Amino acid sequence: MTDPKEHLIDWLRNAYAMEKQAESMLKAQASRLEHYPMLKGRIEQHLDETLSQQKLLEGCLDRLGSGPSTIKDLTARISAMGQAVGGMMVSDEVVKGGMAGYVFEHFEIASYTALIAAAKSVGDTETQRCCETILPQEVEMARWLLEHMPEVVTAYLERSAAGEEAKR
Ligand SMILES: [Fe+2]
Repeated sequence: MTDPKEHLIDWLRNAYAMEKQAESMLKAQASRLEHYPMLKGRIEQHLDETLSQQKLLEGCLDRLGSGPSTIKDLTARISAMGQAVGGMMVSDEVVKGGMAGYVFEHFEIASYTALIAAAKSVGDTETQRCCETILPQEVEMARWLLEHMPEVVTAYLERSAAGEEAKR
């Protein structure tokens, strides 16, 4: 038998690791993009949001008695998922990166949806409130990436056909 609060803490720690991963992916993408200023700008905006999300999660973990020392260990638990994306230097990286970003945002959406239910279940209104602040930011980023996918692809194909650098 495990206390529901233990699961909540575990999932919060996973979410924190996920946001660390998001940070490194977004940083890598933003620093490499050159010819897609709108995409770069939106990624930089979400990077700021991601750093704020980390702070909110840190606050929740602190409050639940799972402080910075355990947070430190989390860097080791980061999944390989985003790493392949952040350092991607394939010939169509802007397109592949956009798709991978969209997938990652949905992983985040699922994670915060689960966390909100868990926080409700435990009666932790502060964690619930934090996750309800974060969730719409992930939904909006996913929506933006999907909405702008066609224009990124079109711009990529045009640059590529014209013999210009297209991949980033
Ligand atoms: Fe996030």
